Amino acid sequence: MRVFVTRRIADAGLQLLKDAGLEVEVWAEKRKLSQGELISACGNADALISAGQALNEEFMDACSHLKAIALHSVGYDNVDIAAATRLGIPVGNTPGVLSESTADTAFLLMQSVARNAFYMHKTIGRGEWGFFEPTANLGQDLSGLTLGIFGLGKIGFEMARKCRGAFGMNVIYHNRKPNEQAEKELDAKYVSFEELLQHSDVLSVHTDLTPQTRHKFDESAFKQMKPTSIFVNTARGSIHVETDLKTALEKGIMWGAGLDVTSPEPMEADNPLLDMPRVAILPHVGSATLKTRTAMSRLAAENIIAVAQGRQMEYQINASPDV
Ligand code: DGY
Repeated sequence: MRVFVTRRIADAGLQLLKDAGLEVEVWAEKRKLSQGELISACGNADALISAGQALNEEFMDACSHLKAIALHSVGYDNVDIAAATRLGIPVGNTPGVLSESTADTAFLLMQSVARNAFYMHKTIGRGEWGFFEPTANLGQDLSGLTLGIFGLGKIGFEMARKCRGAFGMNVIYHNRKPNEQAEKELDAKYVSFEELLQHSDVLSVHTDLTPQTRHKFDESAFKQMKPTSIFVNTARGSIHVETDLKTALEKGIMWGAGLDVTSPEPMEADNPLLDMPRVAILPHVGSATLKTRTAMSRLAAENIIAVAQGRQMEYQINASPDV
């Protein structure tokens, strides 16, 4: 079996593929493949490991010979799963292994915004570290505040666990369905979306991007949040409306925002949000630790190897026909 990999991933997974007797070709250029290049690269491949490429219906139809597609991500909003299912192509992802590192990033952004860290850092470079004023540059204490989680799955659970442990924060959440483990272990309380907006001191987004969650955080949502609230998004940039977020921050409707995801990505270097106080932005590095990226690489490879050996992928998104 021949596997095409759309960009260099950690060696551990590539080695697993080779040890299993599979032939591996890695796209070496540091740029996305065009649709034509991707289709042609997959022409003589039996399986694909895709990192950072959109896989649409046209791609699926052109590459219906693929026996397996393994995503090097947990998110699959940029992949036409229905088309893959129609063509009988199993598609796998990498859940679980990135929950801690992604939650760490949300936690980092929350603290950075609470203490205006990114902006304060820049003031030093501008020569603005001058006279000490006891009433200037004041941040927020997080102890005892209320954390609201939008989408309490594996990553949201980790974020809630960290915030409870470190700051004794109360946890409220809004989900498609209640999360019993979080209610039992973290005393998390299920609330409506409106209650989540109104009662969260920190509101952290951990849901998938779907038609239902796209632009869920818009002007009307931000207007319901507390003036002292912190908005954190480490899930997908299209879950919030960036212009509405910027306006809400400018008008003081909210305290600040921490984003690891934007729309589009990459964010333009001259985006005004980058220079705003109480805003912390990272370039989608939630899962970017050596341990996590190694685990993701292994999981993606294991999903392909399973199919090559006639087994079902351990993490197959379209295992059930209704996905
Ligand atoms: C994921 O795995 O979906 C992360 O966002 C990394 O892309």
